[in-house]
Amino acid sequence: MRIDIISCVPNLLDSFFAHSILKRAQQGGFVEVVIHDIRDYAVNKHRTIDDYAFGGGAGMVLQVEPIARCIRALTSERSYDEVIYLTPDGEQMQQKMVNQLSLLGNIIMLCGHYKGVDQRVRDMFITKEVSIGDYVLSGGELAAAVLSDAIIRLLPGVLNDETSALTDSFQDNLLAPPVYTRPADFEGNKVPEILLSGHEAKIEDWRHEQSLLRTKSRRPDLLQ
Ligand code: 6GU
Repeated sequence: MRIDIISCVPNLLDSFFAHSILKRAQQGGFVEVVIHDIRDYAVNKHRTIDDYAFGGGAGMVLQVEPIARCIRALTSERSYDEVIYLTPDGEQMQQKMVNQLSLLGNIIMLCGHYKGVDQRVRDMFITKEVSIGDYVLSGGELAAAVLSDAIIRLLPGVLNDETSALTDSFQDNLLAPPVYTRPADFEGNKVPEILLSGHEAKIEDWRHEQSLLRTKSRRPDLLQ
């Protein structure tokens, strides 16, 4: 998979992708993440990429030309399965959406900023609009990082334990059960006996039961 992220604050994204699982995923060749600076595609010598909104109102709007040039430069090199715009008025990101996106080959993610992008960018180039929740961030970069992380960890080979993504919270509309590691007794707080028993089937039953209890008490909406 290849993910191209278009941003006017590319530095915000650099360190995020340079560490931990996302770094390993790239080094292992499971995903290629390429970050693009909109300013590199500016059309005038002052390298401006935003301007006042027609009709007035507070806030700057990202202009269509630099973004069009950037997207066209990418699509002339390869074909893309989705051109995603990260925006608070997009479809709310859920695990199901992430699972579907993880099956694709090439994705562009465009990060909005200020008052957003010129509507013609959305009309002409965007195939999918995604929000990461009902709150407003100052830019789409964190949202692109969240979406990329959720996708990349699902790619085969990225996680050490191949089955562990399947037991995540939300994969069965169930929250994950509690987990413990050594010591078995911390200041009198003991690990549940069953987990030390070695009975694999009973442990599976216990975990499922705990998942159900957690989901019922914390997220009953998931059980509908
Ligand atoms: Cl995708 N962008 C911004 N700026 N704010 C958000 C968001 C995206 N999703 C939730 N809030």
